[in-house]
Amino acid sequence: MSKFSLIIEPFNGLLCLDIPSYTLKKYSIYQVIFSEWTKWIRPKAEWIGYLDLTTGPGYSKVKECREIGDKQVAASPIIALRTEPRFTDLMFIERNRKYCNALKERIKEFCEGRNCDVLNEDANKYIRYAIKRLEGHCLVCVDPFRPRDLGWETLENVLQEDLCDVVSVYPAPLTQRPIRRHRGRLFIPGVHKHMPPGFQLDMKEEVLRTSSEFCRKKIGEIFGRSVLHCFIRGVPYPILFATKDFELGKHIYNKLKSEGVCDEIAFKE
Ligand SMILES: C[S@@+](CC[C@H](N)C(=O)[O-])C[C@H]1O[C@@H](n2cnc3c(N)ncnc32)[C@H](O)[C@@H]1O
Repeated sequence: MSKFSLIIEPFNGLLCLDIPSYTLKKYSIYQVIFSEWTKWIRPKAEWIGYLDLTTGPGYSKVKECREIGDKQVAASPIIALRTEPRFTDLMFIERNRKYCNALKERIKEFCEGRNCDVLNEDANKYIRYAIKRLEGHCLVCVDPFRPRDLGWETLENVLQEDLCDVVSVYPAPLTQRPIRRHRGRLFIPGVHKHMPPGFQLDMKEEVLRTSSEFCRKKIGEIFGRSVLHCFIRGVPYPILFATKDFELGKHIYNKLKSEGVCDEIAFKE
C-alpha cells in the first residue's frame, strides 16, 4: 500500500462508513485529484469551491486491513477539507441524517474562517439550488453506493456547468446489481436512469469496461469535456474525472500516471 497516501487517525467514536480495503485506493486517487485541481485553479480564482453530492459521515473504517486496524481513514469530505491549496467554499450534501450529524460534529475544527455547509438533502432534488449557490470554479464529487442513488439528470446538471469539474465513481458499481433478463435482453435494474442516453446493457462480460467506455464517449460528445477513467485491479468501479479545461485534463492524467495510484487510465482528450 506504500504508493497510496491516506489520512489515518485514531477512531473518535463517531459514526463511520464500513468500507472494503479497496476503497482506500479510491481515497488516494481523490487526494491526488483534489490537490492537483486546487493547485491548478488557485492562480486563476479567489473563490475555489468543493461540492460533495454523496458526502457520507467523513471517515471510514476498514474491517480487513491489519495496517489500519481500529483507526479511521479520511473519506472525501475530510480529504477536501485538508486539501492544500484550500477550497475556500465547501458544500456537503448527504441524505442520511445520522451521517450529516457525524460530519457536522467532526468538521467544527476545520471550518474556522471558511464557508462550509453540511446539508441534509437528497442531491437529486437539491442539485439546482446547489449550483445556483456556486460563485466560480468548483470541483464536484459524486460517489454513490448504487447506480440508482444518483440520476443521470443530476449529473447532467453538473456537467452542463462550464466551471464545474467532476470527480466520480461513475458509472457506479454495476456489478453490485443482479443482471436480469427482460424480453430476451439482459439488463441491470435501475441502471438506465443513471446512464447517459442511449445506454443499452446487453453484455455479460467486461461490463465495467464497456459501460465506462460508453460514458466517456457520451460525456465527451455531449458536454465537450476531456474525460478520464482510472481503473484499479480488484476495484469494481472506475473513477472518472471530467473537465472542460483540456489542459487541466491532461495535467491530471499525467499526474495520476506518474503517482502510480491506478493500474490503467483511459483518457479521452
Ligand atoms: C459511498 S458512500 C460515501 C461516499 C463518500 N464520498 C466517501 O468518500 O466515503 C455514499 C453516500 O452517499 C449518500 N447518498 C446516496 N444517494 C444520495 C443522494 N441522492 N443524495 C444525497 N446523499 C446520497 C449515502 O447515504 C452515502 O452516505
